[in-house]
Amino acid sequence: MKKIEAIIKPSKLKAVQAALIEADIPCMTVAPVKGAGLQRGYSEIYRGTEKSMILLNKILIICVVSDENLEKCIKVFMDHASEGKTGDGKIFIYDVQDAIRLRTGTRGIEAIR
Ligand SMILES: Nc1ncnc2c1ncn2[C@@H]1O[C@H](COP(=O)(O)OP(=O)(O)OP(=O)(O)O)[C@@H](O)[C@H]1O
Ligand SMILES: [Mg+2]
Repeated sequence: MKKIEAIIKPSKLKAVQAALIEADIPCMTVAPVKGAGLQRGYSEIYRGTEKSMILLNKILIICVVSDENLEKCIKVFMDHASEGKTGDGKIFIYDVQDAIRLRTGTRGIEAIR
């Protein structure tokens, strides 16, 4: 199992959500967050040397998927959250040790299917 943490532009949330459902990846956690990347929140072409930073509104989406669904999930973000511009966002991928569905106690891969 893999955990995908994707930080995207708020304007892309609806399209990403719809595409994840379409790709049969219906389980997700979504939260509004603030963040900065390489440009430290400044405009796309900003290359200043100031030490300040602006935190921009972003959306964090967390999906835990089977190993076999990982690439499909990444493709959804590439296809629907990227415009090829700075600030489009970033995906972090982690190994997941276990999962437990509280209703049944089901563990592991069965808990996310
Ligand atoms: N290394 C990081 N650690 C934690 N969060 C990050 C990291 N890089 C980016 N983020 C988060 O992702 C958001 C979007 O980052 P962004 O797309 O601007 O990355 P970037 O590395 O600056 O790439 P680009 O040059 O394309 O803008 C940031 O606002 C921040 O919330
Ligand atoms: Mg950036």
